[in-house]
Amino acid sequence: MIIARTLEELKTARETLGEVNFVPTMGALHEGHLTLVRAARAAGLPVAVSIFVNPTQFGPKEDLSRYPRDEAGDLAKLDQAGCALVWLPRVDTMYPPHASTSVHVANVTARWEGATRPGHFDGVATVVAKLFGQIRPQAAFFGEKDWQQVQVVQRMATDLHLPVKIIPVPTVREADGLALSSRNAYLSAAERKTAPALHAALKEAAQAILAGKEVAATLHKTRQQLAEAGLTPDYVALVHAHTLEPLAGFKAPARLIAAAKLGTVRLLDNLAVGP
Ligand code: PAF
Repeated sequence: MIIARTLEELKTARETLGEVNFVPTMGALHEGHLTLVRAARAAGLPVAVSIFVNPTQFGPKEDLSRYPRDEAGDLAKLDQAGCALVWLPRVDTMYPPHASTSVHVANVTARWEGATRPGHFDGVATVVAKLFGQIRPQAAFFGEKDWQQVQVVQRMATDLHLPVKIIPVPTVREADGLALSSRNAYLSAAERKTAPALHAALKEAAQAILAGKEVAATLHKTRQQLAEAGLTPDYVALVHAHTLEPLAGFKAPARLIAAAKLGTVRLLDNLAVGP
């Protein structure tokens, strides 16, 4: 496995490897990330993984400084998973002092995570565009757990005619349904027991909507269930799967999306509704 820390080292590695598939990450790797690496390998090319905790996607009150970091552990896991190249840029490589360009994706970023975390998706779109320019992958693999992020990246790649295929990969869950996330590490033992309530409530809501129950009433009930379980819902919505516009009634392609606070941790989850 090649480890590149400078643009020079990355250039040499890219010349050695030829075409690659790509998995961008912020490190603290778990089974969800490794599933992305395996999917990228199964697609038939050597896999490049980036580890970069991107400061521009964190808000001023967010957890940049306490975001979990474990470079040695991550490298061991990636080696084991058969990764060919790890790109570990420094902040001033990604954001040199004279850099003046950022990427703003409109519309699909207007609501949900975009509304709660102003500037977050500009940070994501900008860093992903830079990483695509550096790695020049054939395909890039993203976890569906961050459903809105996948739609933002897909919109950007389409709008900017970037020659990369965006591949969404289904969410990996614990046995009790909790979606894997690096931030789960912040949950206390008691909170960890409560956390699967989010997935359970979304599953029930998806079934109710498919059975013909009214959407607004179903979403209201889901919010109540989350509150009763001890979560503080931020949003629970039925949306068009790709534009993220709210749907008043069920119409495919639809997605149930939710965010809820549990102690200091913000949990995200989503589910397909129907085909
Ligand atoms: O999903 C993530 O870990 C990040 O948002 C990404 C795509 C690596 C960009 O920093």
